[in-house]
Amino acid sequence: MVTPEVKGKMNHIVLVSLLLSVSWATYSSKIHENFIQCMSTEFNAYTKSFQTIFTPQSPLYSYILQSSKQNLRWLNSTSKPHLIITPFHESEIQAVILCSKKQGFQVRVRSGGHDYEGLSFLCKTPFIIIDLVNLRGIEIDIEDETAWVQTGATLGELYYAIAKRSIVHGFPAGLCPTVGVGGHFTGGGFGILLRKYGLAADNVIDAYLIDVNGRILDRQGMGEDLFWAIRGGGGASFGIILSWKIKLIRVPPTVTVFTVPKTIEQGATKLVHRWQYIAGKLHEDLFIRIVIQNVGGESTSNKKTVEASFNSLFLGGIDRLITLMNDSFPELGLVPENCTEMSWIESTVYFAGFQKGSPLEVLLDKTQLYKAKFKAKSDFVTEPIPEFGLEGIWERFLEEGLVFMIMDPFGGRMNEIPESHIPFPHREGNLYNIQYLVKWDEDEARATHKHVNWIKMLYRYMKPYVSRSPRAAYLNYRDLDLGINKHANTSYSEARDWGMKYFKGNFKRLVQVKSKVDSENFFRSEQSIPSIHT
Ligand SMILES: Cc1cc2nc3c(=O)[nH]c(=O)nc-3n(C[C@H](O)[C@H](O)[C@H](O)COP(=O)(O)OP(=O)(O)OC[C@H]3O[C@@H](n4cnc5c(N)ncnc54)[C@H](O)[C@@H]3O)c2cc1C
Ligand SMILES: *[C@@H]1O[C@H](CO)[C@@H](O)[C@H](O)[C@H]1NC(C)=O
Ligand SMILES: *[C@@H]1O[C@H](CO)[C@@H](O)[C@H](O)[C@H]1NC(C)=O
Ligand SMILES: *[C@@H]1O[C@H](CO)[C@@H](O)[C@H](O)[C@H]1NC(C)=O
Ligand SMILES: *[C@@H]1O[C@H](CO)[C@@H](O)[C@H](O)[C@H]1NC(C)=O
Repeated sequence: MVTPEVKGKMNHIVLVSLLLSVSWATYSSKIHENFIQCMSTEFNAYTKSFQTIFTPQSPLYSYILQSSKQNLRWLNSTSKPHLIITPFHESEIQAVILCSKKQGFQVRVRSGGHDYEGLSFLCKTPFIIIDLVNLRGIEIDIEDETAWVQTGATLGELYYAIAKRSIVHGFPAGLCPTVGVGGHFTGGGFGILLRKYGLAADNVIDAYLIDVNGRILDRQGMGEDLFWAIRGGGGASFGIILSWKIKLIRVPPTVTVFTVPKTIEQGATKLVHRWQYIAGKLHEDLFIRIVIQNVGGESTSNKKTVEASFNSLFLGGIDRLITLMNDSFPELGLVPENCTEMSWIESTVYFAGFQKGSPLEVLLDKTQLYKAKFKAKSDFVTEPIPEFGLEGIWERFLEEGLVFMIMDPFGGRMNEIPESHIPFPHREGNLYNIQYLVKWDEDEARATHKHVNWIKMLYRYMKPYVSRSPRAAYLNYRDLDLGINKHANTSYSEARDWGMKYFKGNFKRLVQVKSKVDSENFFRSEQSIPSIHT
């Protein structure tokens, strides 16, 4: 029962919070008004398309904010942008940059929203999101073997558009079709064509970017230093990339795929161990990666164990593949019955994890297959891990729930490209990349803490087995544990630790470029390249 006294107090609380929320609403709508005013009067950008600006009061605000958050850890985050803009035209982006500068907002730009740490939509200071969802045009020139892709497009849309025009062309980028080309290409970007054609960023030949002064620049206009920086250095430190011009690559009309899972009991340890010696040296038409996970246990009738799946694309038919495998990796015991021939575009559906026989249109589906709460980390391996080292990994896997370790072999084309060619420095000398990933369902902070601690523990365990000085990491598997900028004027030496891990010797040049093109550090985040002039 509520006494009159308590009731009075409650009324008071209700009244105070009502007043607060009213004044907050007035205050924040004033901010929005000012901003929109700035966009329309000063920059004449907003005459027609007010439907592309969303305030927290807009019915669609929440939907748009949540729609492409890939890591569900950030679903209930309290970090909310003052506005979300979904531009149809570049002039709207120019206006957002200039008005944000004037009014003291930070800008976060979002393409596919897959950033592991949510940097494209989370920010600790007042900010505005530019969501590129309406800038997804793709123009393919088959004769020239090039394409222009707007940065809001997804990898799946790009692969699909290429395949509509030609079955013997493709593009070397990641496996997950909902990843955005905006974030992916600017962080490097690799997938199953890596050993033959390198990274997505290696195959970018021009770009349009809006700089901190609102200027639209192509490769010639921005100059080679800035064009270098945005291909692997993370675009969000330098400007907003509008579109990429890419070089298409050639694929044979028929490729072959296989997936061969082996549990510890079936000899996984010896096979993974052996794989380390050969995967980076195989013919460059052959890419065999390993996905390690734990299987069985509680909800199944099988004993819990660790399984290594050998998952492969071969740029050719089954016969040649079997001969190659028989020569270089007979231990796996691959036979023709384990292999399937298909077109390259069908292989992108296969590697995205869709059911056999799914229509190619699944590549366009933006409801994201892998949405989950997760934490990931990465390493590069330069010397094979001994068998007992692998066994230590398995032991730790058996202690956790949903965990994965993906081992992507390098070598081939990757060895031919110098470390300083673009900011992505992980070239010759790397046998393979590892991505560690833990997923969970629980919402409680305690559970999150437990899973995140598990992956940190695994990362510590791996230290003796992976690259050193620096212990290298892949920018696109962003990990804020590596270090963050604590304030807007973070210095070179403060950022050097995490910067060297992602970029090695290229970090210095990235800082020089940043200092030249955005010396006031307008384009910043927890892991943006610092400017040494601030
Ligand atoms: C399920 C899943 C699978 C993945 N598979 C692969 C894989 O196979 N290979 C691989 O290499 N990586 C893979 N990744 C990692 C992926 O490449 C990175 O997360 C990438 O940065 C995502 O790009 P995005 O545009 O989707 O993300 P966003 O979160 O939109 O952007 C990522 C970063 O880039 C910035 N950015 C985005 N667009 C622009 C732009 N137009 N101009 C300037 N800056 C911009 C953002 O501000 C943010 O800092 C995967 C990620 C997930 C979640
Ligand atoms: C490979 O083919 C052999 C022979 O048909 C079969 O016994 C085995 O189960 C297959 N393995 C896989 C993973 O398809
Ligand atoms: C595999 O190699 C062995 C030994 O080199 C050879 O005898 C056999 O014929 C080869 N098999 C195939 C299918 O190439
Ligand atoms: C977010 O909040 C909603 C409502 O409180 C809750 O049902 C959901 O489980 C939460 N999700 C996450 C990822 O924390
Ligand atoms: C950076 O800025 C903060 C306040 O914004 C200030 O306290 C600090 O001294 C500055 N640091 C450097 C290295 O300039």
